[in-house]
Amino acid sequence: MRMQKSVEIFPLAYCLGQHGCTTYLEVGARDGETFLAIGSTMTRAVAIDLGGKTAPKLLQRSRALKALGVDSHVIIGNSRQAGVIDQARALGPFDAVFIDGDHSLHGVAADWNSYLPMATQLVAFHDILGGAAQRVGVGRLWEQITREHRTVEFCQRDDRRPMGIGVVLLVAAAGCRREPDGGRMPPLPNPKPAN
Ligand SMILES: C[S@@+](CC[C@H](N)C(=O)[O-])C[C@H]1O[C@@H](n2cnc3c(N)ncnc32)[C@H](O)[C@@H]1O
Repeated sequence: MRMQKSVEIFPLAYCLGQHGCTTYLEVGARDGETFLAIGSTMTRAVAIDLGGKTAPKLLQRSRALKALGVDSHVIIGNSRQAGVIDQARALGPFDAVFIDGDHSLHGVAADWNSYLPMATQLVAFHDILGGAAQRVGVGRLWEQITREHRTVEFCQRDDRRPMGIGVVLLVAAAGCRREPDGGRMPPLPNPKPAN
C-alpha cells in the first residue's frame, strides 16, 4: 500500500535538499518505501520500526541503500523504549528526523521528545491533518508545535483521505517557505537549452 502522497513527500524531499540534509532518521518506516526514496539522497539513513510482516521488505530496502553506499541501519523495536532511543542516539545526530510511527497523542509526543534532541536541521511529521481516530494525536501535537516553532506544511487538503506533512524548521534556510495550502514546490530553474 502506498503510504505517502507525491504532492506532499516530494516537497519534503525538496526541503531536505534546501537544508543540505545528508543524515536521516525515520521513526515508523513500515516496509521502507519512503526510507528508500529519501535515504537514497543521504549519506546515513536510520529506520526504526516495530517490525512484523513488513520487516523483511524494510531490511531488503536497507540493504539496497547500503549497496548505493549509504550507511543504512534498521532498528527493530518500540521507538519509546530506552534501548531503541540509545541505539538511534549512537547513530546520530541527524539533519532530518521524520516521525511517522505511533500516531496517538501519547505516542507522537513521546517520539517528538525523544528524537528532537537528535535533530540538527528539521523534524517532520506525517498525518498532521488527522483523519482516522488514531491520527488525531498528531494534529493536536502539531497545533501546539506551530505556536512555539517555525514550521512549514506540505498538505493536499482537498482530498477525502487527508494526511499532510508538517516540518519544524530548527535552522533558517532559503527556499523552504510556508505555502498557504502547501504541497507546491517553488518553481525550478529553467533547463539549459539543448545545443
Ligand atoms: C504509517 S506507517 C509508516 C510509513 C512509512 N513512514 C512510509 O512513509 O513508508 C507506521 C509505522 O509505524 C510503526 N510503529 C507504530 N508504532 C511504533 C512504535 N511505538 N515504535 C516503532 N514503530 C512504530 C508501525 O509498525 C508502522 O510500520
